[in-house]
Amino acid sequence: MPTIDILVATTSGNTEYLADQLSEQLQNAGFQTRMHYEPDYGELIGALDAESIWLGCVASHGAGEYADSMLDFAADLHRKLPSLVDLRYAVIAVGDSCYDTYCAAGRDFDQLLEKCGAKRLIPTLEIDMSQDDPEKKASTWLGSILTHL
Ligand SMILES: Cc1cc2nc3c(=O)[nH]c(=O)nc-3n(C[C@H](O)[C@H](O)[C@H](O)COP(=O)(O)O)c2cc1C
Repeated sequence: MPTIDILVATTSGNTEYLADQLSEQLQNAGFQTRMHYEPDYGELIGALDAESIWLGCVASHGAGEYADSMLDFAADLHRKLPSLVDLRYAVIAVGDSCYDTYCAAGRDFDQLLEKCGAKRLIPTLEIDMSQDDPEKKASTWLGSILTHL
C-alpha cells in the first residue's frame, strides 16, 4: 500500500482538523499517511517516487490566496514548476462562498499540479464552510477514491 502525503494549507486550523480526520480514515483503510502541516518544497520533491500520492487540503485566505502554512510551498511550486509526472494527487479546496474568490487557492493548486504533469485521481472537492458539513462531505469523497489507490 502506498504512503499518502497530506499537505495542509491552514491559517486558523479548520483545515488541519479536517486533514487529521482524513488521515485517520486512510489509516483505518490500511494506508500509511505523512502529515505536512507546513509543506516543505525540498522534502516533498526530494521524496517523490513512482508510488507517490499527495492529498492537498487547501484553505483560501486573503483575496483567494493560499492559507499561511502553504504560502511558501505554493510560491516555490509556481516558480520552479518541477516535473511531477510520477505523482498522483487529489485536492480538497476549503473556502466560504461569501467570497468572490471562492476556493481559489485549492483550485489553483489543482491546476498547478496538473500543469506540472501530475495525474488527478478524482475531481477536486470544494467545501463551503458556510453551507457544508466538512467532515461528512470530505469523508464521502475520500471513500470514493480509496478503491483506486
Ligand atoms: C480573512 C479571511 C479571508 C478569507 N478569504 C477567502 C477567500 O478568498 N476565498 C474563500 O473561498 N474563502 C475565504 N475565507 C474563508 C476560509 O477559507 C474559511 O474560513 C476556512 O475555514 C479557513 O480555513 P482554516 O481555518 O484552515 O484557515 C477567508 C477567511 C478569512 C478569515
